Order: sequence, then C-alpha cells, then structure tokens
Amino acid sequence: MTTRKPDAIAILGGTGDQGLGLALRFARAGRPVVIGSRKEERALAAADEVRKAVPGADVVGLENAAATRLADLVILSVPFEHTAGTLKALKDVLAAGQIVVSMGVPLATAIGDGAVRTVGVWQGSCAELVESLVPDGVAVVSAFQNVASHRLQDLAHDVECDVIVSGAKAPRERVMALCRLVPGLRAVDGGPLANARYVEGWTALLIGLNVRYKVAEGMGFRLTHLPGAA
Ligand SMILES: NC(=O)c1ccc[n+]([C@@H]2O[C@H](COP(=O)([O-])OP(=O)(O)OC[C@H]3O[C@@H](n4cnc5c(N)ncnc54)[C@H](OP(=O)(O)O)[C@@H]3O)[C@@H](O)[C@H]2O)c1
Repeated sequence: MTTRKPDAIAILGGTGDQGLGLALRFARAGRPVVIGSRKEERALAAADEVRKAVPGADVVGLENAAATRLADLVILSVPFEHTAGTLKALKDVLAAGQIVVSMGVPLATAIGDGAVRTVGVWQGSCAELVESLVPDGVAVVSAFQNVASHRLQDLAHDVECDVIVSGAKAPRERVMALCRLVPGLRAVDGGPLANARYVEGWTALLIGLNVRYKVAEGMGFRLTHLPGAA
C-alpha cells in the first residue's frame, strides 16, 4: 500500500499491545491496516506478526508520519503521557477530513502512581486533549478504552465488550461502523466528545476489577436493555 485508501486504518503505536490487537482484528475483517511506529523496523515486525496470524492480510508497517498519510482513520495507540508529543510531531501531516481516534486513558502511571486511578486532564479527558492538538478540520472520536488487549489479540474468541463511541455525529458513526467489524464488540452511541471523561475513568476501574477478580485477560463492560441491541 503506497497511496491513501479510503477504507485504510492507520494505528500509531500499533506495535504495542492494544494497537496490535486492533490491527489483527481489522486485518481479519479484510480492512487495509497501516501500522505506525517511531521506528520503521518495529512497524515492519508488527506487520509481519499480523500477516502470520492473518494470512493474506493487507498490512504495512511505516513510521508514524508516513502511516498517518495513508489513511482517513488514524487510531492513536500510545501511552497517555506521550499523546501530546506524538500529535505535535504530526501537526503538519494530519489533514482536514481525517478522523483521529483517541483510545488513551490518563492513568496515574503517567506520574508514577497506580493504574487503578486517573489523573486530571485540564481539557477534561485525553480525547479532548487530542482535540485541542489536531489541526482544524480533523475530527476526534473517542473509542476502545474499555477493551482489553488480550481479548483483541485472541483471535480464537469473540471480544465481548461494549464500546462507547463519542464525538461529532458523522465521524462518530464511522467509528461505530469500525467496531462492528470485530466479533463481540458492540458500538454504543456515546454522544459528544466530552463524555470520553467517563469512559476513560472506567478503564482504571476495570484494571482494579481485573486484579481483585484475578482476570489476567481483562474484563469488559456490557450495557443492559440497550434498545436495538441484538
Ligand atoms: N493495553 C490495553 O489493554 C489497553 C486497553 C485500553 C486502552 N488502552 C490504551 O491504548 C493505548 C496503547 O496501549 P498499549 O498497552 O498498547 O501501550 P504500550 O504497549 O505501552 O505502547 C504502545 C506504543 O506506544 C509507543 N510509544 C512508547 N513510548 C512512546 C513515546 N515516548 N513516544 C511516542 N510513542 C511511544 C510504542 O511504539 P513505538 O516504539 O513502535 O513507537 C509502543 O509500542 C494507551 O493509550 C492505553 O491507555 C490500552
């Protein structure tokens, strides 16, 4: 893949646990995937890993800037504390019409504290921090914070988790459609981007639940009585 494809999905930091999990799932659903990294060789190795698990996958590995240029949808999959640095490096690369998906959680590990708590973010949430940093015309949507990487990477099983998707209506609907590509993920309309602050906090709660109930693979949330849900 050397030119931008409208259905391609770029995953920056796709070499890490969560990004790789999403790459595997989207590749298996038949979508072109671009794995981004600070180092091209790490991206290439991650792309090889996807190809091994999903024969025939349309996947490439590139540095983050080159990966960003190849897709309308760009998922930011770096630890919260590296959100601003990563986006500032891309300010001349991101272009109007693209959608950036914020999956980051402001875990207190960012300040050397525990993962069962979050830190306050001036803008209200990681997603709103992302919105404050992208160029005009780039939409930001919040999603996937409550999905565990182990579940994403385990292609033998459905993921079984609701995904609250927040942001402006049109880009939000595009990201909700993305969730439907992954068996067991159910997209829930989370309204405006500011609601990301609730969803991000639930991840810290889930991390504590995983410890107390000894679920190393990670739990997920399901909403009950959701109209129209299967
Ligand atoms: N893991 C989960 O179960 C989970 C669940 C829900 C949400 N999330 C969220 O998903 C995001 C990624 O999580 P993860 O567990 O995959 O994280 P991770 O493995 O710790 O890191 C992901 C990638 O971030 C890049 N990175 C590391 N340090 C960086 C720096 N200083 N500057 C820029 N990039 C850097 C690295 O890619 P390169 O070295 O290749 O550049 C790394 O592979 C986080 O925001 C997290 O809150 C994770």
